[in-house]
Amino acid sequence: NSQARHWIGTSWKMNKTLPEAAEFAKRLLGVDIPGSVQPFVIPPFTALASVATILRDSGVLVGAQTMHWADQGSWTGEISAPMLVDAGAQLVELGHSERRQHFGETDHTVNLKVLSALRHGLIPLICIGEDHDERAWGVARATLERQIRVALLGVRPDEAHRVVLAYEPVWAIGETGRPAPADLVAQTHRDIRRILVDMGTGFAGLRILYGGSVSPDNAPDYLDSPDVGGLFVGRSAWNVDGYQSILRAGA
Ligand code: G3P
Repeated sequence: NSQARHWIGTSWKMNKTLPEAAEFAKRLLGVDIPGSVQPFVIPPFTALASVATILRDSGVLVGAQTMHWADQGSWTGEISAPMLVDAGAQLVELGHSERRQHFGETDHTVNLKVLSALRHGLIPLICIGEDHDERAWGVARATLERQIRVALLGVRPDEAHRVVLAYEPVWAIGETGRPAPADLVAQTHRDIRRILVDMGTGFAGLRILYGGSVSPDNAPDYLDSPDVGGLFVGRSAWNVDGYQSILRAGA
């Protein structure tokens, strides 16, 4: 549903047992999701196949939180794009700041993974975002431009429309984060749009989601901006009621 007005989804990060994941997915089937919203859910690897089975034909996209760029091989502990497709994933999150910060993800490895995802028919959901210092030093826009341009190296203009970006300022994410002001988010999304326009046709219209301490209260403010194509939610959407309230804000 690339025509949806807003994509609104959640990554569960390192949360939920199999029973908890199944309960969430089954309850989500009963939620009345606005037609203008494309929902997506990103469980941990262990629950991916079971959640994908429950949500098959529901219109909810299911994704993974990361992957390796190689198709197979001696990469202990890693999961490849073909394995994700096999498990029922339609999208894959790449370059989340927690992966960049703690697990050595770089712009270069994000790029390799983007190319692999596209080769295997997965939607790459690429996370970008400046940290606190980069904003204070006045290089937030430069950081975002580098992250975007490197992540998309080698992506052909005719396949670029399959990419989705998520702007997630590092200082606004997770337990230690604080919500970003809506006007800063709107301005930064405009900056990102300009970068994409500079990259040419094919890239100019990419969907840009916003993520970082999104809640049912602030979701409508973020969605007010025409360049915000949806929301990528952590903590506030880990229970179905919270997710449902945010989905409604996208109508
Ligand atoms: O991927 C979404 C995420 O990084 C935002 O997390 O908990 O700040 O909504 P949270």
